[in-house]
Amino acid sequence: MPFPYNEIVLEHFKNPRNVGSIENPDGKATEGSPACGDMVSVYINVEPETKIITDIKFESYGCASNIATGSIITELAKGKTLEEAKHITWKEASEALGGLPPIKAHCSVLAVEGLRSAIQNYEEKHGLEINREPTTE
Ligand code: FES
Ligand code: FES
Repeated sequence: MPFPYNEIVLEHFKNPRNVGSIENPDGKATEGSPACGDMVSVYINVEPETKIITDIKFESYGCASNIATGSIITELAKGKTLEEAKHITWKEASEALGGLPPIKAHCSVLAVEGLRSAIQNYEEKHGLEINREPTTE
């Protein structure tokens, strides 16, 4: 069986960006996978006026696909508004990583799901309207 991960995925797996947690974050969420029992947590800080994500961190207890996707979505989401970040799709994340093995798609969907849930947590806490995008496209 050929090695499933490309260089970009491996680079993000070995040197993930924005790893860790934020103390008293504005929004946070943990998503778990029933398939493997792995988990990913996402923390965000949001500028209240502009709703721009000023800081974002993630912790993964998952596999290389999950870690690399966590890394890339934090890069994609930082500096974006909540509305823009909500629309970051799994496809976009996967493309930014140069493609992920299909067998590992759900592991990376899990990371995107974590970002969406952290945004939803912020919205819930701030009484904002929740308008959630489907994750898998
Ligand atoms: Fe669990 Fe990928 S095997 S997150
Ligand atoms: Fe756990 Fe993929 S096997 S999310």
